Amino acid sequence: MLGFLGVGHLSAALLAGLVRAGHAPERILLSPRGRAAELAARHGFGLARDNADLVKRARLVVLAVRPADAPGAVSGLPWQADQLVISACAGVPMAALEVGPARLMRIMPVTAAEVGASPTACFPDLEEAREVLEAFGPVVPLTSEAEFQLATVTSAVYGWVQDLVRQTADWSAAQGLDPAVARRLNALMFSAAGALVAGKPQPMDQMLHELVTPGGITERGLQVLAQGGVADQWRAACDAVLAKLEGAGTLRG
Ligand SMILES: NC(=O)c1ccc[n+]([C@@H]2O[C@H](COP(=O)([O-])OP(=O)(O)OC[C@H]3O[C@@H](n4cnc5c(N)ncnc54)[C@H](OP(=O)(O)O)[C@@H]3O)[C@@H](O)[C@H]2O)c1
Repeated sequence: MLGFLGVGHLSAALLAGLVRAGHAPERILLSPRGRAAELAARHGFGLARDNADLVKRARLVVLAVRPADAPGAVSGLPWQADQLVISACAGVPMAALEVGPARLMRIMPVTAAEVGASPTACFPDLEEAREVLEAFGPVVPLTSEAEFQLATVTSAVYGWVQDLVRQTADWSAAQGLDPAVARRLNALMFSAAGALVAGKPQPMDQMLHELVTPGGITERGLQVLAQGGVADQWRAACDAVLAKLEGAGTLRG
């Protein structure tokens, strides 16, 4: 049985991804609260009486409560040695989660799990979680918890990219492009850039060099972005997210 402790925005997307990938809803058990009752009624997931009931019945437990709630949500539950807790809680170190003899891993999926497209960073890479994680999208194992923390910053970039898609689509629509076409085209253009970079081994500097025609339109836009200090601001945003994650790591006390 696969349990979900904390059923809010993220879990709703992960559960949709599992259903989409063909996981049987009757093998999935939800903690009460949040969207649990609604999703159980709609998809046929089981509903645990309380969190202790969930832990007694599920061998794998996805933890998806808000970071500050995570240590309190897991402590005092009847964890067993054959259980695996899969924490999606951003910035919450494994050391802050008291799960007795159960094992722990961290994952960082995004809501694209709903369409099977979430790159899901994980640490450690445990075979028994693979089938679940692969329902969300491509799995990206990290080699240490520190490396995992750095990878977590990229899950914030996922939202920034959506904002860039929105801004570019809004601009296109304001110039007269059909809004639905503008949205689709811009979203697919961002996907296309990611798919090419993810699929080719060449150094990115070389790929960009080949792409940017001297005197062409890509170069012109990059010049304006450089003049506006966009690269510096982007790095500053990444620094700010990492600092926030490191702050969350102290939430135990
Ligand atoms: N949202 C994302 O896209 C995303 C992506 C990656 C990682 N994450 C991580 O996922 C976690 C959840 O984020 P979210 O956006 O899904 O938050 P959310 O919408 O606020 O959902 C959290 C849910 O946990 C429930 N909850 C809190 N304490 C509980 C407890 N002791 N027992 C049972 N349920 C409990 C809350 O219930 P109540 O409503 O009754 O308080 C709420 O429904 C966070 O740690 C976040 O860092 C989120």
